[in-house]
Amino acid sequence: MFISAPFHTHMLLIFFTTILWVLAKVEAQGNVSVGDSLSANDKNGAWQSPSGDFAFGFHSISGEKDKFLLAIWYAKIPERTIVWYAKIPERTIVWFADNPAIDRESKVELLPTGRLVLTDPTGKELWRSPGITGDAPVSHAAMLDTGNFVIVSRNSTNIWESFKYPTDTVLPGQELGVDGYLLSTLSETSSGKGKYQLRFSDGSFVLNQLDVFTRKPYEDYAVLGNGSRFVFNKSGHIQISNSNGSLVEVAPVNAVPKPELYYYRATLDFYGVFTLYYYPRNPGGGGGSWSALWFTPRNICRRFVERRTNSGRDTFGTNPCGYNSICEPINANGRPNCTCPPGFSFLDDSNQYAGCKQDYANYPADCNPDGSTIGEDRFEFKSMSFADFPFGDYGVLQPATELECRQSCLLDCSCAVAILQDPTLSEDGSGTCWKKKLPLSNGLFDRDRVDRTALFKVLKSDASRTKPARPNQRDENRNQIILILGVLLGTSAFFNFFSLAAIALIFFCLFRRRLHDLTGVRSRRNLETNVQFFEYKDLEHATNGFKEELGRGAFGTVYKGELPFGYGDRVAVKKLENFAQDSEREFKTEVKVIGQTHHKNLVRLVGYCDEGEHRLLVYEFMENGSLSSFLFGVLRPSWQQRLQIASGIAKGLTYLHEECSKQIIHCDIKPQNILLDESLTAKISDFGLAKLLMNNKTQTQTGIRGTKGYVAPEWFRNTPVSVKVDVYSFGVVLLEIICCRRCVEVEMEEAAILTEWAFQCYSAGMIEKLVENDEEATVDVAKLEMLLKVAIWCVQEEPMLRPSMKTVTMMLEGAVQVPNPPCPFLLETVSMSTTLI
Ligand SMILES: *[C@@H]1O[C@H](CO)[C@@H](O)[C@H](O)[C@H]1NC(C)=O
Ligand SMILES: *[C@@H]1O[C@H](CO)[C@@H](O)[C@H](O)[C@H]1NC(C)=O
Ligand SMILES: *[C@@H]1O[C@H](CO)[C@@H](O)[C@H](O)[C@H]1NC(C)=O
Ligand SMILES: *[C@@H]1O[C@H](CO)[C@@H](O)[C@H](O)[C@H]1NC(C)=O
Ligand SMILES: *[C@@H]1O[C@H](CO)[C@@H](O)[C@H](O)[C@H]1NC(C)=O
Ligand SMILES: *[C@@H]1O[C@H](CO)[C@@H](O)[C@H](O)[C@H]1NC(C)=O
Repeated sequence: MFISAPFHTHMLLIFFTTILWVLAKVEAQGNVSVGDSLSANDKNGAWQSPSGDFAFGFHSISGEKDKFLLAIWYAKIPERTIVWYAKIPERTIVWFADNPAIDRESKVELLPTGRLVLTDPTGKELWRSPGITGDAPVSHAAMLDTGNFVIVSRNSTNIWESFKYPTDTVLPGQELGVDGYLLSTLSETSSGKGKYQLRFSDGSFVLNQLDVFTRKPYEDYAVLGNGSRFVFNKSGHIQISNSNGSLVEVAPVNAVPKPELYYYRATLDFYGVFTLYYYPRNPGGGGGSWSALWFTPRNICRRFVERRTNSGRDTFGTNPCGYNSICEPINANGRPNCTCPPGFSFLDDSNQYAGCKQDYANYPADCNPDGSTIGEDRFEFKSMSFADFPFGDYGVLQPATELECRQSCLLDCSCAVAILQDPTLSEDGSGTCWKKKLPLSNGLFDRDRVDRTALFKVLKSDASRTKPARPNQRDENRNQIILILGVLLGTSAFFNFFSLAAIALIFFCLFRRRLHDLTGVRSRRNLETNVQFFEYKDLEHATNGFKEELGRGAFGTVYKGELPFGYGDRVAVKKLENFAQDSEREFKTEVKVIGQTHHKNLVRLVGYCDEGEHRLLVYEFMENGSLSSFLFGVLRPSWQQRLQIASGIAKGLTYLHEECSKQIIHCDIKPQNILLDESLTAKISDFGLAKLLMNNKTQTQTGIRGTKGYVAPEWFRNTPVSVKVDVYSFGVVLLEIICCRRCVEVEMEEAAILTEWAFQCYSAGMIEKLVENDEEATVDVAKLEMLLKVAIWCVQEEPMLRPSMKTVTMMLEGAVQVPNPPCPFLLETVSMSTTLI
């Protein structure tokens, strides 16, 4: 029916889609009228500025399911760049009070009084825009191309504008007065209240740290300039106006900003650096990224030390790296790189700013009553040049040689690190040794500190076995020994023999128990597969009682979890359902197969649990959720990102089909089963599970595996199922990636079934129809055509005609030519696939 559709049907189709498109555009980009509202979900869109550069609405929070920010962001660029968000006032006095995150289905509405009001799903008011001029008859609200969201009164004054209530970012055209300030966010991903501030104080604009509890400012660590008006002018210059009104440049930029070519923003980053960023408005093939044009202070790691040294006061705060870590700024943008010194590791592997913990910490249990170290020969020093922890030493030796410094720290139980000043580099030729205990603060790596070497006291690697495992257990043992010794000394020689035997027995038992503990932990790692075995209660604990659901699929429900320390990783725990009870052996076999597949484009299996009726799989956690929410969400991902994702999926499938030790047919390739990590690398999930759930082990199937719309037609015929079913599903997903729409959209009438519509457009030579209003894709016609041809090859109804995934990968990489595909439909099945929906 579609293939032979007369030409006027095409025209009608195009006409309707154009109308729909125009209507959608107007609604999204025009003025916001009284009574207009948005809801926090993935579909409800946002209010865009006329050029589409900025959007106002609900932005989902990465890594937090069902949480949104009421925010303004750059709508055309793929990086999450929020320039403003509504600061929800403190709701309670508990720890999450400062979290501006709001729940799904919260709603924001423009009221007749000229206020924007944000309510939670129960209708409770969370936030309302304050009035600059009080309540006034409102005309409309609008997202402007400058990034300012304004509510305009009938006499054209602004009742409210987001520019007057900045968060951590200022945009060209925005100003700060004496009561304006910027507050950094808590971290890269969290918009909670951070600890750095840019504000007007005592005649100048300054940067300062805040006390975490009272939120009162410390002394400033940097002065931007004197004057009472901070201006980020429309051409991208940051200036401060002084008393006679003349503007003084703050950021001496060598390159003149070009607002017509670049976006600019100035942000007080969560690590205390104020940065002027730029981003190409039309990034070429390689995609864009935010780069720093200018930033201050140049060295945030050294800044607090300099201020203290120059002023003699200790009232400025500490550098942005946590306790026990070493801070070094990255040249390009001044962002601190926090690392752990030898013998230390991150408290939280996913957050380098949270500080480090000592790998072996047993103080004061390792101290003699006189403060000397027990068993000092168990320790050694690891040295690190140019590293220092200025201030906060508890002892200093001067003059001191390196040997004296090492010996002194080694024997002193409290000493964790000694900083040695090289005698040959000091003024009077004598060295100095500063001794420090934990926690260490203001650590920095600074090549200007040429005369400094940090000596870290660490446990020798072969000594870790002999260390007392648990201090209290050891005390217990010690008490037992003392008791026995007491008995021993108070009895005759005859009993001494028995006592000695008893001591030997006790030692044997204790030792055996420890040995048992050790091997007990060991055996949990299944050496054959390198996949961890977990007990059900551990997983229950890790997921907080299976509380936070990440998703639900054919095989079961997935929950978010966090493994206890030792692993310290976030994970996704999948609870398998519909599981045949008698297939325990097969479960182990499949886990083994899955555990052996390691590929950049496959989600890694971390562990499993099979206890009683419980079957669970533990996977690495994927920051950016599924391709489905990415592709069909509010914002269209960039063309370049989509190309990369398509090629990633193809590579992962090639591996499953041809490169891993045992061929795996996925059987359920669809966007919900493709996950994206923090760098948007596509990873296939749920592979290897299809086999587990099949009742019938032969290749011909009666029960269809897979999802409507993505399943290959041979499932409906009595023909064998092969790897080509995955190729078919990949073809459908590839079309979805190209068009950013689902494979079946009933409302789209003529275009409802994507595979048919795609071939129709292709054969009519109108492939741009598939990517209407997607400028990037329209411009890249050659690539678009190539992708489309690959997809049509993949969705051939005749499995033999479909290329292998390896060929598909090569086609996508441009390594081989893509011939023109034939019509993918066998005539009799067209009507059949139509009746499927
Ligand atoms: C928004 O409304 C104002 C006042 O009614 C009008 O002047 C302006 O042109 C409108 N803008 C758009 C984009 O419709
Ligand atoms: C109209 O504009 C003037 C400033 O020009 C302002 O003082 C007044 O409050 C506005 N009236 C209303 C009703 O918004
Ligand atoms: C600001 O004024 C102070 C004196 O009040 C002066 O010492 C300082 O250099 C000035 N800073 C700048 C950036 O002009
Ligand atoms: C911004 O400041 C620069 C430097 O003072 C000046 O050349 C430019 O004209 C200013 N732009 C605007 C829009 O005021
Ligand atoms: C503004 O005042 C400064 C000193 O405060 C002076 O150096 C400068 O020349 C003055 N500029 C103008 C335009 O008067
Ligand atoms: C951070 O420092 C470590 C250790 O010096 C180094 O290996 C790493 O490349 C640095 N990271 C960046 C982004 O510079």
